[in-house]
Amino acid sequence: MRLAVAISGRGSNLTALIAALPAGSPAEVGLVLSNRATAGGLDLARAHGIPTLVLADPSDASAWLDALAAHRIDLLVLAGYLKLVPPRVVDRYRGRILNVHPALLPAFGGPGMYGHRVHEAVLAAGATVTGATVHLVDEVYDRGPVLAQARVPVQPGDTPERLAQRVLEIEHRLLPAVVLAAAAAGRPVPLPEPVELPS
Ligand code: GRF
Repeated sequence: MRLAVAISGRGSNLTALIAALPAGSPAEVGLVLSNRATAGGLDLARAHGIPTLVLADPSDASAWLDALAAHRIDLLVLAGYLKLVPPRVVDRYRGRILNVHPALLPAFGGPGMYGHRVHEAVLAAGATVTGATVHLVDEVYDRGPVLAQARVPVQPGDTPERLAQRVLEIEHRLLPAVVLAAAAAGRPVPLPEPVELPS
């Protein structure tokens, strides 16, 4: 199964995915796209010889579709990607676009809920448990069907940064698990509960 991974920043989820898919795996990263030319994950992709594309206009569906077709992409993974996917792309790849979100959706999701804002909201709400979600992407931020979730405890005295780091470590294990399950099944499938996370 050939993946395209869309990023906007450092790409730590991309790093985890590349590490989880050594040569010979049932899935491989065939393309990395970003809306930001300075995204750190682009350098990582280049270091691994993975083709990259900077989207001059992230709303230009043709640019997405041409690149996804040219690289024979089967599954689009949004990993720290902070813009909406053009509706025409969602249509063409419906059921084959994943997103990882650093909270237990539907809680703490939706427009503007990304990065440390998510964890600030979790702490402000006094939640004692949070976690990570991998879900299918549709036209609305963070709404598509959930494929897998993993819980993370909120510790007393947690700052958004400490909580973000604890959740990120789980994201780095949850996303590869969902991608490998999709490769085995030939399409994205929900992970059986309770989710078994690879170490
Ligand atoms: C992660 O928490 C991810 O869930 C969110 O963006 C954050 C940064 O991701 N969508 P990455 O380090 O760029 O992969």
